[in-house]
Amino acid sequence: MNQRIVRLFLLFSMLFAAACQHAPGPATQPQTVPAAIAIADAYGAQVASAVLDAGGTAVDAAVAVAFSLAVTYPEAGNLGGGGFMLTWMDGQGAFLDYREVAPAAATRDMYLDAQGQVVDNLSLTGYKAVAVPGTVAGMSEAHRRYGRLPWKELLAPAIELADQGFVVPSLLAVNLQEELPRLAAIPGFLHYFGGLRNGEIFRQPELAATLRRIQAEGAAGFYQGETASLIVDEMRRGGGLVTAADLSGYRPVWREPLLASWRGYQVLSAPPPSSGGIAVLQLLKLRDLLAEDFRGLAHNSPQYVHLTAEMEKRVYADRAEYLGDPAFIDIPVALLVADDYIARRAAGIDRRAISAPGSVHPGLEPHDTTHFSIVDRWGNAVSNTYTLNTGFGSGVVVGGAGFLLNNEMDDFSVKPGQPNYYGVVGSAANEVQPGKRMLSSMTPTILLEDGRVKMVLGSPGGSTIITSVYQTIVNVLDFGMSAADAVAATRFHHQLLPADLVTFSPSRPLPSGTIQALAKRGYRVQPHDWEFGDVQLILRDAEDWQAASDPRGRGEARVLH
Ligand code: GLY
Repeated sequence: MNQRIVRLFLLFSMLFAAACQHAPGPATQPQTVPAAIAIADAYGAQVASAVLDAGGTAVDAAVAVAFSLAVTYPEAGNLGGGGFMLTWMDGQGAFLDYREVAPAAATRDMYLDAQGQVVDNLSLTGYKAVAVPGTVAGMSEAHRRYGRLPWKELLAPAIELADQGFVVPSLLAVNLQEELPRLAAIPGFLHYFGGLRNGEIFRQPELAATLRRIQAEGAAGFYQGETASLIVDEMRRGGGLVTAADLSGYRPVWREPLLASWRGYQVLSAPPPSSGGIAVLQLLKLRDLLAEDFRGLAHNSPQYVHLTAEMEKRVYADRAEYLGDPAFIDIPVALLVADDYIARRAAGIDRRAISAPGSVHPGLEPHDTTHFSIVDRWGNAVSNTYTLNTGFGSGVVVGGAGFLLNNEMDDFSVKPGQPNYYGVVGSAANEVQPGKRMLSSMTPTILLEDGRVKMVLGSPGGSTIITSVYQTIVNVLDFGMSAADAVAATRFHHQLLPADLVTFSPSRPLPSGTIQALAKRGYRVQPHDWEFGDVQLILRDAEDWQAASDPRGRGEARVLH
């Protein structure tokens, strides 16, 4: 980071310190523990440290980080996307759903041609892929309920980074090059983001102006007035569906976090419209039911991978059949995580051979997103995952406002059985309907031990989020890995379909012996098409924290003593 930007951050720290002397707030317990952060880029880590050092809560830091990543992490940090924030504040869990919704004009078959065939990329790239964004409303609501520092101060770092610019990290420049074949033809994309070059300063004056409107007017500075007009104009230019009424009608929703006891921990995670919490709980419980089978197995040994893949098959079959937006369908959440149901699912697992995908039915039946984990000095925690869906979203940039819009419509099931970008299939439960939230895999998770935070984690990666979060928890608790080792370890993934395919982290492959042994059993074992997971983990270790940011990404973790 260059000196000018470091000076800016010192300035923010002083501003925050001055502001918080007068700030009332909910974090009333004595300060007992150091704070800790794990964030997907160094600018975000610097912003979070400044807010926490100045006495902000974990939610204050989360809000400031979310806006700063919208500037410095344009692949996934966003104003034009959505996400989920799981909080543990003052001894209470809460879950804020600020997921995007389908525009009012969306229809079930909008991605099919006259012959009923799926039109390539229509739900993924360009204007028709855009759903109504939720991030700004989400941050505003989180701050209203749990913020301590003034809203205006929390927007200041993002505005400075957009105005003054930031030095482009090499991974951002690489990610841009990877997405260019998909996005270069979208009017405006290169004009706004073509200048992202490794090591050079990148300024975004129109984005700074948008952030100033949000700073001055809160969510209304985005969903009404000039920003809303610019979004609607952009939609009209390209044939998008989002209208002024869609924007002014958008509301985030507080939901009960999914909560379950597991091995004496309380696991808090994402309820629908995410599939993530249900899926991770199913995996954790299945693992314990197979404890005898797992006993003594080495990490990522062939039998270890086989048993895990068998568990994952069943979990993804349930995901495809039962899960979607709870406002539109009835989801048997309690049944899906009930011990007797999981026991029945475990009974069907073949310990030796691969169950054929056709034999696994629902039991009742970049890949870019970004996560941050924050713990403040009062022991409160935020686990936040938000996204534009794939890297740089739909590629549509709001002209005059300088920010990208999501392609979250691809997370709907555009046709039953048709795989989406992540290769996962769905059913009527997740078909497109106006005003509906599309099914997610985002899995912000907090583990509590005796009412205190033990672990805060989450990851990007579409459908691989679930398996990344699950394997990280197990790496810590069953293999005794440190936070750094747990996030760095090789991960693998299986999701029922494609049949018998086990993929692994390309930069950290499975041991070659494991690959060969699995191939002999009939698995196709290959590197995942893209590097999956960028896990951000905070872990309590006696009275201190360990914090780790996945080495696959460009993040930074710190413990703030
Ligand atoms: N857009 C990825 C997810 O929500 O699962």
